[in-house]
Amino acid sequence: MLFKWIKANKKIGDEEFDKIYPDALRSKADTHFTPIQVSKTAARLLAPGPDVKVLDIGAGVGKFCTIGSVCSKGYFVGVEQRKGLCAIARGVCERYNLTNVEFIHANITDIPFEAYNAFYFFNPFMENICPREKINDEVELRKELFGEYSGYVREQLAQLPKGTRLVTYYSYLREVPPNYALKRSLFDNNLKVWEKL
Ligand SMILES: C[S@@+](CC[C@H](N)C(=O)[O-])C[C@H]1O[C@@H](n2cnc3c(N)ncnc32)[C@H](O)[C@@H]1O
Repeated sequence: MLFKWIKANKKIGDEEFDKIYPDALRSKADTHFTPIQVSKTAARLLAPGPDVKVLDIGAGVGKFCTIGSVCSKGYFVGVEQRKGLCAIARGVCERYNLTNVEFIHANITDIPFEAYNAFYFFNPFMENICPREKINDEVELRKELFGEYSGYVREQLAQLPKGTRLVTYYSYLREVPPNYALKRSLFDNNLKVWEKL
C-alpha cells in the first residue's frame, strides 16, 4: 500500500514512511536518507522517460531508489557497501513487490559506470571525513577514502557520453568533473542537476 500511495502522490510524511526501516536506523534517517519529496523530484529529473538506468552511488537502505522506481519511468540500481543495509533494501523490494529496482552489495570502486546513463549522489563518502555522522561500524572509515572514492566517481563520470545526467544532493561537489554543466538548483540549492557536455 505504502508505495502505491507514494506513486499516487498521497501525502505521506517521511517519519511515517521511515517506519518500514528498523528502529536503530530511523534516527539516522534525517542525515542519511533522501526525503520523499526530494527523491521524487530527483528521480523524475534523472529519468523523465523510459530506457534510463539510474545508479544510486551509496544506496543505504534504498529510500531514494525504491521511491524513484515507483515515481518515474526509470530503472534504479543502488550500490551499497554495507551488507546489512543492502539486505534491508532488498527486503523492502520483496515486501512491497517492487520491480524496476535492484541493489548490489559492493564498493562503488568495483562498479564500472558505462552500463548507466543517470546518477544520483547524496554525499555518500562524508562519513570518512566526519566520523560523528557514521551510520555504524560495519565498514572501515578513513579520511583518505573520501578523496579516493570521490576521485573514482569523478573519473568514471568524466568518460561518459554527452547528455549523461547527474543529480547531487548536499554534496561538496568533489565528484563532479569539469565537463559537466550545472542545469538547475532546487531545494535551497542543495539539489543540483548536472549534464555532461
Ligand atoms: C547518505 S547515504 C544515502 C542513501 C541513499 N542514497 C538515499 O539517498 O536514500 C550514503 C550511503 O553510501 C554508502 N557508501 C559510502 N561509501 C560507499 C562506497 N565506497 N561504496 C558503496 N557505498 C558506499 C554508505 O554506506 C551509506 O549507506
